Amino acid sequence: MTTTHASPPVRDDAAAATDQWLLSLKTPCYVLDPTVVMARYADLRERLGTPLIVSLKANPNLDLLIRCGHAFIDGVELASLGELDIVAGRINAPKYVNNPSMDEDFMRAALASRCTFIIDSLEQAQRLIRVIGKQAAPHTVLRLNAGQLVSSGKHPADHFGMSRHDALLTTTALTQANVPVVGLHTFAGSNSFHIDDKGSDAAALAHALAAFAPQVAHITGMPVEFLNVGGGFSEHFPSQAQTFDAYRQRIAPLQKNFKVVHESGRGVFAGAGTFVTRVRSIKALGERYVAVCDGGLSHNFLLAKTESMLKQYAQPRLLRRQQAPVDAPTLPIQFVGSTCSRADVIGWSHDASAPPSVGDLVIFENCGAYNQTYSVSAFLSQSPAHTYIHQS
Ligand SMILES: Cc1ncc(COP(=O)(O)O)c(C=O)c1O
Repeated sequence: MTTTHASPPVRDDAAAATDQWLLSLKTPCYVLDPTVVMARYADLRERLGTPLIVSLKANPNLDLLIRCGHAFIDGVELASLGELDIVAGRINAPKYVNNPSMDEDFMRAALASRCTFIIDSLEQAQRLIRVIGKQAAPHTVLRLNAGQLVSSGKHPADHFGMSRHDALLTTTALTQANVPVVGLHTFAGSNSFHIDDKGSDAAALAHALAAFAPQVAHITGMPVEFLNVGGGFSEHFPSQAQTFDAYRQRIAPLQKNFKVVHESGRGVFAGAGTFVTRVRSIKALGERYVAVCDGGLSHNFLLAKTESMLKQYAQPRLLRRQQAPVDAPTLPIQFVGSTCSRADVIGWSHDASAPPSVGDLVIFENCGAYNQTYSVSAFLSQSPAHTYIHQS
């Protein structure tokens, strides 16, 4: 039997044109693709077999929203007045406001925009009742603390939502004030979606939330129909087909009695954004090249992995402006940012490579969720990253 070796794929004309365009951009920058956002939203929604609410906090870019917001048919989750201002008048689908620190101004604006309120505590419910006054009451959804519903060794309990006991007190307070409690919500944290046999996985959380619903219904006198069981889907969800199959089967019985929905930010947006920075300086140091870039942790804080115990740096794509020097030794490349912090390391290429040249582009995939907004741009008075929309 003969083995044929396929020749390396030739980058097609469109990819080459995109690379040319990338080289013309002002850097550092983010390139966001609304087509990918819509495709990932549709894909995740189909894998779940339920409605899917989009968490705008993952990427509140207005230019992006204008181009893909119409696809978010099951609604958006908003965590601030700023996010509400962005969608007001632009999104007709349901709007859910969700933030334990919501103040009266945020509440009033959310009432005016007919949002559904995700209630984090009894105190928050009482404040909402005062703000409603004589206005028409909004729909409310009670947030249950995920750690109180199922205790999981994998994810330490967080401080969001209520205990069952407080949720019942809150139900009573809202019902007495004629504010309808239409559903329950829980969220176990980003990247928490998993299936195992330990009784504390994503499906177990959904079942625990459903099991609590009759107690709430008993107080309101109305069945709880809406369960938002959160999500915590990773940007790599397309590679988890089996997990989704198992999950769908396990939550299927709940869908007979409840409208089960999920929410996602990362899963929808991460794969739709790249971060592009330019090599400003290059040197050999020890057994590596150090490529000093014009963008770093001031523009993409998450790449520096300062919040990770084990730093696993992203491996960027190097887009060379010209051919690599042929006679230079090959070494791994460390990509560093533009600040004086020793933590400003944004990527590594561990393969031995020819050195980059000044002006080459360093391109990081999967930077469409949180990377831009989770960065502090005031350090060294650097300008924030630019943003471009690129429709594929
Ligand atoms: C309540 C809630 N829902 C959804 C999300 C979105 O999480 P992710 O982007 O990981 O999907 C968050 C993130 O903080 C959240 O707090």
